[in-house]
Amino acid sequence: MLRAEEIKKADGKLGVLLVGLGAVSTTFVAGVEAIKKGISQPIGSVSQMATIRLGKRTENRTPLIKDFVPLAKLEDLKFLAWDIFESDAYEAALKAGVLEKELLDKVEPELHSLKPQKAVFSSDYVKKLHGTHVKQGANKYELAQQLMDDIRKFQADNNLDRLVMAWAASTEVYLEFNPIHDNLDSFEEGMRSNHPSIAPSMIYAYAALKLGIPFLNGAPNLNLEIPALRKLAEAMQVPVGGKDFKTGQTLMKTIVAPGFKARMLGVNGWFSTNILGNRDGEVLDDPESFKTKEVSKLSVLETILEQDKYPELYKDLYHKVRINYYPPRGDNKESWDNIDIFGWLGYPMQIKINFLCRDSILAAPVLLDLILFIDLAKRCGMHGVQEWLSFFWKSPMTAPGLYPENDLFIQQTKLKNTLRYMMKEDLITHLGLEYYHEM
Ligand SMILES: NC(=O)c1ccc[n+]([C@@H]2O[C@H](COP(=O)([O-])OP(=O)(O)OC[C@H]3O[C@@H](n4cnc5c(N)ncnc54)[C@H](O)[C@@H]3O)[C@@H](O)[C@H]2O)c1
Repeated sequence: MLRAEEIKKADGKLGVLLVGLGAVSTTFVAGVEAIKKGISQPIGSVSQMATIRLGKRTENRTPLIKDFVPLAKLEDLKFLAWDIFESDAYEAALKAGVLEKELLDKVEPELHSLKPQKAVFSSDYVKKLHGTHVKQGANKYELAQQLMDDIRKFQADNNLDRLVMAWAASTEVYLEFNPIHDNLDSFEEGMRSNHPSIAPSMIYAYAALKLGIPFLNGAPNLNLEIPALRKLAEAMQVPVGGKDFKTGQTLMKTIVAPGFKARMLGVNGWFSTNILGNRDGEVLDDPESFKTKEVSKLSVLETILEQDKYPELYKDLYHKVRINYYPPRGDNKESWDNIDIFGWLGYPMQIKINFLCRDSILAAPVLLDLILFIDLAKRCGMHGVQEWLSFFWKSPMTAPGLYPENDLFIQQTKLKNTLRYMMKEDLITHLGLEYYHEM
């Protein structure tokens, strides 16, 4: 890993390849354009707004992260997207209904200029969608080549120095591992024979990795975990990250649950339900897509509460997650959590969380941060799974056999210490004894 002055500079343009031009992508692009024009602030973005403490508390060195590490500038981002519908980013943003028309009109020319490429898609993997703006090819391998052609053309036309690809398209149906996922040869053979265990999201990831482009998986789909793609990322020396942007109810869980464990309070029930009316909600109304999401959402509490280490507190935990498609609310999701906890002598208590959330408002800055940080990782020569970016993921990927860290505060420490390490600054342990005794 390259450190400090060895890190390649963020000079030139960074191409951002967005798979899916729906609520998250359009909220992200419109937000970046609005921030560039000084209309809005990058609220919710760690890379843009957070500071980082360096050295001792007495040194008063707390620069903004974006001034501390060499990140790409918002002015240097150029966008390309793929979608199964032809709508440009302005029309798609209006349809998504997240941002008001008044704001969208201020960045209208920029949004109109982002017209999606034809997608690699099959409704076998997203049952509720039927698009027409879709690539045709003899087999999945050929479709991957078409994606690579799109990328090369975009890079040449815009004179781009670097690229990052992010999956911000619909959640695909639940897929199990299949032996054809084991290595690159069997995977490529599977693409040529149109094997059903190769989903569109894997074809996009393959195309990116083959071109040495970092890939981020914003949905819970089985994707980068398959050995073939992991091996390809290593072989091409590309950093990757996944999966499923951490927003909404899961964000709240990873904020609240670590507190229960820190105080040694028991939890025996956690019932979470949501109403959501955007296209993502409609897709998740299909049981097969919901299953993919459910697995991602359920794993969070298990790893934070560590039932095996604290059986008296968490072994009977009943955790249930429900998502209900309810069109009147659009993107403005409402979630209810009923948490049954217990304290001293086993006395029960209840906590209710009612979060009137805006999913894509929470997701857009996460997408921005992931793009900027994974581009930084690439310039540092880091490759494979980037566990230091766990902070942003609902189901963070790890090295095989390692359990993920889901506690938001451990994730934050990991993120900031990695940035300190990159820049050859001391890691912060929070020991603090040196302020009281001679060391
Ligand atoms: N909104 C959030 O806060 C949030 C949080 C975590 C994860 N996610 C995930 O991010 C993804 C995007 O969410 P969203 O709210 O923008 O959904 P959305 O339905 O508004 O947008 C998804 C877009 O992807 C397109 N699409 C589907 N399959 C495609 C393919 N194969 N190639 C290209 N385009 C394709 C759809 O046509 C749609 O326009 C979903 O998988 C969702 O589960 C969203």
